[in-house]
Amino acid sequence: MRGLGLRLAGRGGRLAAAVDKHGIAGAARAACRMVKDAAYQDEVSTWFEVLLDKERPRVPAVHGDLVLATDDDAFDLLNAIGSQSADVARRRRSAGGAPWVLLMDGKPAFCCWLYAGRSPINSMPGEWLNLPPAVRTLEDSITAPDFRGRGLAGGVWMTLFDDLEREGVRSVVTNVLDTNVPSTRAVLKVGFAPVASMRYVRIGPWSRQYLTPLGAGSGPAIVEDLHRRTHWHRRA
Ligand SMILES: CC(C)(COP(=O)(O)OP(=O)(O)OC[C@H]1O[C@@H](n2cnc3c(N)ncnc32)[C@H](O)[C@@H]1OP(=O)(O)O)[C@@H](O)C(=O)NCCC(=O)NCCS
Repeated sequence: MRGLGLRLAGRGGRLAAAVDKHGIAGAARAACRMVKDAAYQDEVSTWFEVLLDKERPRVPAVHGDLVLATDDDAFDLLNAIGSQSADVARRRRSAGGAPWVLLMDGKPAFCCWLYAGRSPINSMPGEWLNLPPAVRTLEDSITAPDFRGRGLAGGVWMTLFDDLEREGVRSVVTNVLDTNVPSTRAVLKVGFAPVASMRYVRIGPWSRQYLTPLGAGSGPAIVEDLHRRTHWHRRA
């Protein structure tokens, strides 16, 4: 196995490592799973919205430095806590995203992205949503594993939302996979309410959404944009 690992390493270090770790059958199963995941996706998520000018629950404020990441060094910090690579971060920054990082004792503890105008949505790879001027999206929130369960996400969101409200932003929307219990609990604590349920199905480059509005709330204006995608369409 060792020899095989070394020989394969020349062709692809990841494959060699997988064979070393899982054996040939295990690596083949993992490779099949990766191909299937790349080709097929069927997930249910919920769109949440928080109305900034309505009364919102207050959560404990966080201590630390909340900074806007602007350069490659800062993007490396995001990557260090499990967020996207500096490369993806750079592209999303130039597309108008604002990556906020909370540093505690100099260490990155939490980060999240806010988008205006146009937003990528992680559960819909490669797709962008058009946003009305007074709406923002919240994407890619992540708390470093050692800092989870301390309310950092909610504390940072509340601070950012207070600033957005002062700037005249009306609401923030976010999309959470229904399987993501920690995230769902975290967003509910700062006043997000479910506005639509979305099933997203993708087969290769073809995808479509099935949307079910929830409750009688105003709902995000982006639901309108999403409704235009409830037929099969090919990713640009
Ligand atoms: C979602 C996430 C950002 C929440 O951040 P957080 O700062 O830990 O938020 P909270 O402290 O409010 O905890 C939220 C929930 O996480 C769970 N939790 C608590 N302690 C935890 C721990 N040590 N480890 C993991 N989850 C924990 C609990 O369900 C908690 O809800 P509760 O307070 O009602 O019990 C964080 O769990 C995370 O980074 N997850 C991985 C990335 C992700 O899924 N991002 C969201 C994409 S939509």
